[in-house]
Amino acid sequence: MTTVADVAIQSNVLIPTWFGIGGKADQMCRPKDAAELRRCVQIDPSLRILGDGANLLVDDAGVGELVVVLDQPAFKTVTPPGSSGPGGGSGRVFAGAGANLPKLILEAVRLGLGGLEGLGGIPATVGGAVMMNAGGAFGQIADAVASVHGVDRQGNQIVLRREEIDFGYRRSGLGSGGVDMIITGVELELHEEDPGVLRARLKDVMEYKRKSQPMADRSAGCVFKNPTLKAELPGLGHAGERVSAGMLIDKAGCKGLAVGGASVSQRHANFIVTDPKAARARDVIELMDAVTAKVQSAFGVKLEPEVVVWRR
Ligand code: EPU
Repeated sequence: MTTVADVAIQSNVLIPTWFGIGGKADQMCRPKDAAELRRCVQIDPSLRILGDGANLLVDDAGVGELVVVLDQPAFKTVTPPGSSGPGGGSGRVFAGAGANLPKLILEAVRLGLGGLEGLGGIPATVGGAVMMNAGGAFGQIADAVASVHGVDRQGNQIVLRREEIDFGYRRSGLGSGGVDMIITGVELELHEEDPGVLRARLKDVMEYKRKSQPMADRSAGCVFKNPTLKAELPGLGHAGERVSAGMLIDKAGCKGLAVGGASVSQRHANFIVTDPKAARARDVIELMDAVTAKVQSAFGVKLEPEVVVWRR
């Protein structure tokens, strides 16, 4: 551990991900507050933010940029409606970027605040979920976002209202190639609803996923985005329709396909499951390439990864 201008930096730290594999960060920092985060940005403007590691594959060689984890209390605070501070108004909740999304969903349901329960079963931090507009058949987080707070790569504060954000399918436009901001907190607009109704809806969503997805295995959720078809695929979808990547991977015969300790789930073909003792990040990358090639040759559809890959 070294201290650079009052910020503690750890060296050579394993980056925890849901895959349970992959390389290390040369440098990692857990800033205590906004001032320390700004210091991190000064030290390395190219820093990477680690969320829950739920949608992330880190290459075996690790990464050289400073990896910043927003897991200190200042970045995990949730301000419920009626409190003073940024949350304030009736259905508005302010959540720090490092707050845990599944816990926030449970708390919102308990308080009778609807709008997040369709995101049940998605492991994420709030910042990570907003950055990639996490969601599925039962909703996307963008629909509940009122504003996003953060800093740019020069350390300047940014607040963007919902209408200023270019949300799309699994994208927010807030990452590199877009606004390129570091999210520190999100104001969510929820609505009052009967907690019993919300609880039942959350239960249904979880039940659907438990039945159709390998929730007990090590994975990063869906590996590929659902593609929009350019041409009709008889029996599978029309031109312009977004179809399940999992269905295409399944129909291309990839279930069970394996490289080293990584394999295509038998339960849902858009999941790659890993055995952390046997798998390397390279295995997952090679398996993703093999699946992409098989779907391309079977259907002429080019799958795009949803999983974020960090490499040097
Ligand atoms: N299907 C198959 N074989 C498979 C998987 C699916 O034939 O191996 C078929 C299913 O039978 C169903 C259809 O494909 O008829 C759609 O499947 P599903 O309901 O599982 O939805 P999906 O489009 O494959 C999306 C999200 C999931 C999300 C679910 C449910 C993407 C890339 N995937 O999957 O999100 O959990 O809807 O809301 O948008 C994730 O993003 O990490 C993720 C898992």
